[in-house]
Amino acid sequence: MAQKYLNFTVSESEGEQSLPILDGTLGPSAVDVQPLYNKHGLFTFDPGFRATASTKSAITFIDGDAGILLHRGYPIEELAEHSHFTEVAYLLMFGELPDAAELAKFEASLNMHNLLHEQVLSFYRGFRRDAHPMAVMVGVVGALSAFYHDVMDIQNPADRVHAAIRLIAKMPMIAAASYTYSIGRPQRYPLGKLDYSSNFLQMMFGRPTDEYQVDPVLGRAFDVILMLHADHEQNASTSTVRMAASSGANPFACIAAGIASLWGPAHGGANEAVLKMLTEIGSVENIPRAIARAKDKNDSYRLMGFGHRVYRNFDPRSRVIQAQAKKVLAHIGKDDPLLEVAVRLEEIALKDDYFVERKLYPNVDFYSGILLRAMGFPTNMFTAVFALGRTAGWVSHWLELQQESHGIDRPRQLYVGKTLRHYPTAPVRRTASK
Ligand code: ACO
Repeated sequence: MAQKYLNFTVSESEGEQSLPILDGTLGPSAVDVQPLYNKHGLFTFDPGFRATASTKSAITFIDGDAGILLHRGYPIEELAEHSHFTEVAYLLMFGELPDAAELAKFEASLNMHNLLHEQVLSFYRGFRRDAHPMAVMVGVVGALSAFYHDVMDIQNPADRVHAAIRLIAKMPMIAAASYTYSIGRPQRYPLGKLDYSSNFLQMMFGRPTDEYQVDPVLGRAFDVILMLHADHEQNASTSTVRMAASSGANPFACIAAGIASLWGPAHGGANEAVLKMLTEIGSVENIPRAIARAKDKNDSYRLMGFGHRVYRNFDPRSRVIQAQAKKVLAHIGKDDPLLEVAVRLEEIALKDDYFVERKLYPNVDFYSGILLRAMGFPTNMFTAVFALGRTAGWVSHWLELQQESHGIDRPRQLYVGKTLRHYPTAPVRRTASK
């Protein structure tokens, strides 16, 4: 196909200029603006990166208008139905589904590395009991860099894969321990006979003194949650990981940066915020007031779990998670009044002009909190579960970035501060502080 260009004029003397347009395999094309600064002394201005492709990537594709999410080409709905988390992690990392032998080898490596160094476990004692699990995870994952820095050469592809496997493998125990420490229960260890998700559930909920049987329906529901959260292309936390990694930083420190970014309520912290919101609403009669507040320009209140920077249609993950929430509630024979509030809130909002015009649909967080609550998770662990799943995506992007050669990420700015001025030397205007 012939190369396309974007033509533009900066000044009459220079005449018409052009920038090449790059095509991906799916989705919008991108104007290659790299010559703009060198040739014309111009930056592009796009705060919040609403119209900027920060990188090329072959991992995940989202069509936000059509509500499509593909991992390495496979639709998320098909993966959620037929695959499982460790297989999806392999797919994200290596680009293809594994055959039986490759999967067995990958899972054996995960099992080999799923323990935490006892010295890492001792870090937990330094945290307050009431520390938020995400605060603990930022600290502990960052601390892993102190354990595996010298033994790893990020120029070596085998070492890189090793680091990625270590991160995925250790995250369940890190997350579980951030909860068990807060309630003062000794931490269980992973068991070789269990799959990834069941292992996390037994470490999270089991007492060290008793056998813990993982309910297979809950085990599968949790595995689906992890798959749904595994990757979402260049979101804030993944972009944070990539930017931190662009300087050649240690991968454990880079993932800790991603966890910090994920924690915010506009990102992964939204699942926790959704449950708080539904609890505050309390019953169906109070929904109109919540909707009115969300629409009021003078009120900062938003419907948590609604809206998405990329999806201007249903988040495909929200339908899968809603079905899982209903299945789990039916299985455990529990009616959650908050589910009724959530279902009615969704129905009312989707008929309201304010939400329709702005294309605000439920995102993955809208139902994930209800599902996690039904499974027995305390609210403050919701985002930690998100981080557990997203680690697969973060390490895949970290691996992909290492193969590129564009060097350190360094955005520029549109400076709007004072122009040059000189320090006043006389008359003396200040006295030194005492
Ligand atoms: N409730 C009420 N109004 C909303 C909401 C909401 N949840 N989300 C957006 N809007 C409104 C805004 O007020 C704005 O209205 P205006 O055009 O009249 O000013 C318009 O919709 C566009 O909003 P933006 O903030 O520009 O949308 P943006 O793409 O920047 O934000 C975001 C996306 C942060 C997710 C936002 O929709 C939001 O805050 N949602 C609630 C938090 C949430 O659920 N986050 C989870 C994101 S998904 C994830 O991380 C897994």
